[in-house]
Amino acid sequence: CGIAGYVGHRAAQPILHTALARLEYRGYDSCGIAVVGEQMVVYKNSGRVEEMTATAPVLSGNAGIGHTRWASCGLPTAENAHPHLDCSRHIAVVHNGNITNYLSLKIDLETRGHVFLSGTDSEVIVHLIEEHYHGNVADALSLAVRQLEGSYAIVALHQEEARLAAVKRGSALVVGLGDGENWVASDVNALAEHTGRVMYLEEGDLAVIERGAVVILNEGRPVERFVHPIEWQPDDGGKGGYAHFMLKEIHEQPRVLRENIGNWLTTEMSPKLRLLWNRLYQPPMILGCGSSYYAGLTARYFMEEMTSRPVRVELASELNHRPETPEAGRLVIGLTQSGETADTLNALNRLRQSGAGILAFANVVRSSVTRIADQTMLLRAGPEISVAATKTFTAQLVSLYAATLAAVGRDYNSNNGLEARLKELPALVQMSLDDTEEVIDAAQWLTGFSNVICIGRGAHYPIAMEAALKLKEVAYIHAEACSAGELKHGPLALLNSRTPVIAVFGSRDDTWETMLTAVREVKVRGAPVLALVPGDNASVRQLADRVISVPQADRRFQPAITAVTVQLLAYYTALALGCPIDRPRHLAKSVTVE
Ligand code: G6P
Repeated sequence: CGIAGYVGHRAAQPILHTALARLEYRGYDSCGIAVVGEQMVVYKNSGRVEEMTATAPVLSGNAGIGHTRWASCGLPTAENAHPHLDCSRHIAVVHNGNITNYLSLKIDLETRGHVFLSGTDSEVIVHLIEEHYHGNVADALSLAVRQLEGSYAIVALHQEEARLAAVKRGSALVVGLGDGENWVASDVNALAEHTGRVMYLEEGDLAVIERGAVVILNEGRPVERFVHPIEWQPDDGGKGGYAHFMLKEIHEQPRVLRENIGNWLTTEMSPKLRLLWNRLYQPPMILGCGSSYYAGLTARYFMEEMTSRPVRVELASELNHRPETPEAGRLVIGLTQSGETADTLNALNRLRQSGAGILAFANVVRSSVTRIADQTMLLRAGPEISVAATKTFTAQLVSLYAATLAAVGRDYNSNNGLEARLKELPALVQMSLDDTEEVIDAAQWLTGFSNVICIGRGAHYPIAMEAALKLKEVAYIHAEACSAGELKHGPLALLNSRTPVIAVFGSRDDTWETMLTAVREVKVRGAPVLALVPGDNASVRQLADRVISVPQADRRFQPAITAVTVQLLAYYTALALGCPIDRPRHLAKSVTVE
């Protein structure tokens, strides 16, 4: 979810509208604002921010708060949209996070006469503030949060006070500093067009934000927070002639790959991480969520081959439920495009506290992960607007390839020509973008099916997983991935003429024959096969119903090229089905709650 707040000399409403539009990547199923002028006025909407901007009446006032929501507790209705009001309708609250003890608090508050209008966990906060309010909203908020369990970023506003009170625990908040006006928001995206100076709140901070002053307290004592200049990555003005951001971002990959490969081959790891890499006493671990996790799974094969060491790859959300173990001597690589995914941040925090060294790959300057990691490598992908990750997936993958090459050493690379082979990837991606006829045909064909099984082996197994994820995300087709070797242990039972298999072939390596065997097994069960094949191959053409030929790379780097074809296939399938490609239902670009 995204939070924005403003207090100053200008009208709050338009500032909040634009700030929320910039935060929509955090959720877009409902939104709302509260503005204080003569009195508190709230406007909420069960749709997108642009709908709110178009339909809201003018709310006059120079102080206000707003929220764009990704529903976690309570349906995405206008009632459940934030801001929430107390019974007197004098206090408004916006919240990002999860209040895990909200049910017991709610029951208690109801017995004391509070009436709840929503089904959210967040509404308890405003009622608790009401209970503690004696003329100062910041004092009341500080007492209220003592009763909360879970994670939160909260901003509260009282009708009689021209100030915002904000508190952070577990979810990010940043204060923007102006001249006679100040802001608070979930991240700098909301603030960059207004101010170049920001302060990042730390755990437990309570900020009291007025037009002419910002005071930050921690455990009741005033604290200073460093004022940072905003390093803003401007988005480059829309879709650049493409029908969707997803297509534009897919097409940016030759440049993105070139920059990331070049960047890594010339960058040094920090001394601490270099020491860790060279003297690991525990296998390195990669972790992430969604496509970032699949980028890690894919890169593992190359890293293990190059270093002759095992590499652990973990889903951040699952790792958080495993027993804590001593992590001294472990290098952990956190992959997170946004740098804000709560599951990933929590896992990295836990690992750091247990002694691991953290190297993060993120695409957003000064995102939250940069404050957890020992070193953050910026993925030079430029802003990714479409919810489905594309260019950041391949940027992560090639960065991991290049980082591994940097770690194993220049001599090794020049002897084996690997650097040169890696540098061929941008041109190969360009080839797949230039010839999409087979992809578009296959996409049209896929629209006739509701269920798809994706198979792969070796480093192309995670690419099959990414294919299934992309089809689900943007084309709303039920797709599941399995290793080609696992078909016979269950998924074969699902196959028939209405359930096609997408077979993601790797190069002519040790997985080739096993993939052919799997495709034969599928065909004799009557299921149609779409094969993605590096180069071309007569036996695959003979067996499969459809073939997409993918530009052929070095066998070790092939997954990065096939991934682009997978993205195009999902895109064109979604396009043919008329799906809202850049903003799929129920999803968010960055999920900032656990
Ligand atoms: C969300 C997005 C996915 C993304 C995942 C991880 O679910 O919709 O596209 O892969 O988060 O995001 P991160 O920013 O941590 O890479």
